[in-house]
Amino acid sequence: MNSIRLRGPATSANVGPGYDIFAMALKEPYDEMLLELTNDNAITINFEGDSQNIPITIEDNTAGLAILELKKRYKPDLGVKVTITKHMTSGCGLGTTGTSASSAIYGLNKMLQLNLSDNELVDLARMGEIASGGSPHADNVAAAMLGGFILIKDYHPIDVLKLQMPEFPVVLAVIKKTQRTTRGFITYEIGPDKLKDQMARCSRVIHAIHTRDAEEFGKAISVDHIAEPVRSAVIANYNETKAKVLAAGAFGSTVSGGGSSVITICPAHLQDEIAAIMESGLKGNPNFVKIIKTTTSNTGVCEM
Ligand code: HSE
Repeated sequence: MNSIRLRGPATSANVGPGYDIFAMALKEPYDEMLLELTNDNAITINFEGDSQNIPITIEDNTAGLAILELKKRYKPDLGVKVTITKHMTSGCGLGTTGTSASSAIYGLNKMLQLNLSDNELVDLARMGEIASGGSPHADNVAAAMLGGFILIKDYHPIDVLKLQMPEFPVVLAVIKKTQRTTRGFITYEIGPDKLKDQMARCSRVIHAIHTRDAEEFGKAISVDHIAEPVRSAVIANYNETKAKVLAAGAFGSTVSGGGSSVITICPAHLQDEIAAIMESGLKGNPNFVKIIKTTTSNTGVCEM
């Protein structure tokens, strides 16, 4: 096998209270990647269609950096040509950069028959995230690699658990963030009361998945004392829009990953109404891209 064409899903990380430890895959949107093995011992990155100004220098590209790590650990003479087709808007907190890293590692593992474990795959892919957010967090890449709902059980060494995720209806307001990353503004100094609430909500998220309870899941993700206060502060009309979607019957709403997209979980019959409320509340933002109606998904990167 000398080439492979892959489809990699959008992911939503943190999922409310689970900063850097929770993420889930979404059915739409997705990106595509073509990997072709070469004999020149070099990694090259190209885009088919709009590159969205994503760097193609290996060290500055999430797929490039992850492949470099795989080359260093397992295959020093690796040569590969990467062609990315972006259907997703990058820089919106939908894990698209992590998806590129995961797709590259998934495809190379197959083509080179490396037989790496899920944790080894995630550990390689997360190195790519250094090119995007400056830190090798594993939440987005794990959800893209494996699909479903991801709990990062341990970072030292990396140990991820995939939970089968019920297909919960989702509405996304896709909004581009204005900064590369806001991770530097996040504090863990939240005090004992908020810390207890945060831990309780993380437990509720996992319980809601086990009991397949969308309403409980939505309530649990709707409060986060760590990432949401920082990321929502730059989303005009965030609190008002969140209050409106909850009043209209949505189960829960929060900032997706590093922002500035907003993700809402709702009953299927309310998806159109919730989409309309989110659009009218958030479209005034100059970085607003579009509304997407989708669902959570158990499918990660896969061959096309
Ligand atoms: N956990 C990461 C963050 C996801 O919140 O920064 C975004 O890459």
